[in-house]
Formats: sequence, C-alpha cells, structure tokens
Amino acid sequence: MEIDPARLSHAERYKLMIGCIVPRPIAWVSTLSPDGRPNLAPFSFFAGVGATPMTLLFCPANNDSGNEKDSLRNARPPGQGGSGQFVVNVVSHDLARRMAACAEPLPYGQSEWDLAGLTSEPSARVQPARVAGSPAAFECVTRSVTSLAPGVPGGANIVVGEVVHVYVRDGVVNERMHTDAAALDAVGRLGGQGYCTVRDRFELPMGRAALGG
Ligand SMILES: Cc1cc2nc3c(=O)[nH]c(=O)nc-3n(C[C@H](O)[C@H](O)[C@H](O)COP(=O)(O)O)c2cc1C
Repeated sequence: MEIDPARLSHAERYKLMIGCIVPRPIAWVSTLSPDGRPNLAPFSFFAGVGATPMTLLFCPANNDSGNEKDSLRNARPPGQGGSGQFVVNVVSHDLARRMAACAEPLPYGQSEWDLAGLTSEPSARVQPARVAGSPAAFECVTRSVTSLAPGVPGGANIVVGEVVHVYVRDGVVNERMHTDAAALDAVGRLGGQGYCTVRDRFELPMGRAALGG
C-alpha cells in the first residue's frame, strides 16, 4: 500500500504513526504551573536528542480544541507563560497502570498525582517533583519549544529540554554508567492500547561485525 499522508485524516495519520513507530519509550512528564500546581502526564512521542548538551525532547500535541496541553503550557519558558522546567520519569512495568491513568484529561491545575495515588520525591535541581518509585528521572530546563501548527486541533509541538540532573535508583546503573535493563524494567507504547516490556532482548555489534562470520 502506498499512502499519501495529505489524503488521510488527522486520526488516520496518528494511527499509522503509533502503529508503525514502535516500540516507543514513554516520558512521564512532571511539571508545575507558574503558580505552583503540579501536573503529570505521559508522552510517547519522546526521544533523546544528544549527549552534549545532554538533551531530550517530548511532543505534546494540541488537544482536540487546538489548545495546548497543560504539560506544554507549564514547560514553556517563563517568558512564554510557563515555568521552564520539567522532569521526565522512566515508567517501569509496576507503574504502567498508574502512568496510563495520568492521561486522564483533568481541568487545568487539577492533579494527576492525586488521581493515580502517586507519591512525589523532591527533585535535586528543578522545582517539579519526580515520581517516587520510578527507576530513573531526568530533570530538565526547557531549551526550546517549537509549535508546528499553532491553534490547530492535534497540532504538533516539540519541547527540547536540557538535562541538568539525573536520578537513578541504586542498582540500576553501575559506576561505568551501564544500565541494567532488567532492573530498569521500562515499558514501551505500541499502537492502540498496546504496551510492551523490554524483557526479550538480543545484542549485536555495530557495522560489519553484525553480519557475523
Ligand atoms: C502511554 C501514553 C503516551 C502518550 N503519548 C502522548 C504524546 O506523545 N503526545 C501527546 O500529545 N499525548 C500523548 N498522550 C496523551 C496525554 O498523556 C494526555 O493527553 C494527557 O491528558 C495530557 O496531559 P496534560 O494536559 O496534563 O499535559 C499519551 C498517553 C499515554 C497513556
């Protein structure tokens, strides 16, 4: 099948993307409104950007009315009406259910932390808290926000954050910064309501060596 995205509806393009771009890591993003109200929501349009500066991105789409989601409003730099900071929590399998609950669209300022029965731990370098029990958390200062379709329902936005502090639970990373994938036990998102674990793994060297022989 050959597909011209311009001929698809927004919903069809979205389904195609979330079904084919798999598995996706999940950024469980903690933010604060400028007046200090906490917000927590998952985003699987999420990726690392680079190690120098240590940066990552997540993509909160506009909601169905074309308005910005709370996480985006809060993560915007202070000059753009936000708090300019956020924390990306890694979602381990034991937290998956409570992470998904945080996708509940609550009125601005109402807390997903209470809804999902989550406990916060203070972050080291930024104001938004991290999720207690999450195996790793990246504390970020917002470097840039790019809005590709302002005001459009489902319009795409990119938030780039510089990581200013990393929390990793003891036993998950060794002194050489090698992560124990089994200890992290991260989940990924698939299409529809699907998720996966990272419990079936294999290794390959890079380049020619990958072909063996
Ligand atoms: C696993 C998962 C991944 C999600 N990924 C995204 C995403 O990448 N972008 C997005 O706009 N919404 C995504 N959502 C939906 C948001 O979490 C949802 O709209 C949430 O209510 C936004 O919260 P906020 O308005 O407090 O920022 C995802 C939901 C789930 C459960």
